[in-house]
Amino acid sequence: MPATPLAGCAAWFAIGIALSIAPASASEDAGRCQFMVSCGTCHTAEAGALHRQGPNLHGNFGRKSGQVANFKRSDAFANPNLVWDEPTLEKRIEDSGVMLPGTNMAYRQRDPEKRRLAIPYLESLKPQVWRLKWQKPFTA
Ligand code: HEC
Repeated sequence: MPATPLAGCAAWFAIGIALSIAPASASEDAGRCQFMVSCGTCHTAEAGALHRQGPNLHGNFGRKSGQVANFKRSDAFANPNLVWDEPTLEKRIEDSGVMLPGTNMAYRQRDPEKRRLAIPYLESLKPQVWRLKWQKPFTA
């Protein structure tokens, strides 16, 4: 069977649990895995990766909502005027339909542990902006 990213996650968890090693990178990897499992069907998070059904969330943490370039969002999402910090993301993924009714993100995560893994992972993805001084900053 070809090694899939998720199989890699499972193996990592198994090794991590068996040996109880490297707690800092363990939580980082657990967060990345949780993001891939919970959000990865509809979102990418690597710099420059393509949008899926939802926008690429790289560098989105701490930004105003609806700023992701080249992504056509729904009318319901036109101007929610939010900042994606921990409390807003928490509400958003706990039940996206309650927080912002009518958007194209039909998602609900009832397990607080899983929310607490995925959100810090997004926070850890600092925007990587490479530019020359005469170029305008670009956002991923
Ligand atoms: C079933 C697909 C789907 C899943 C699963 C999903 N999303 Fe989304 N998400 C979307 C879509 C579609 C949008 C755009 C909403 C719109 O335009 O109405 C979106 C938008 C967002 C936005 C707003 C981005 C912006 O433009 O400011 C955030 C933040 C977000 N999702 C976070 C998450 C997180 C975190 C998870 C996992 C815990 C997740 N989503 C899981 C489909 C999904």
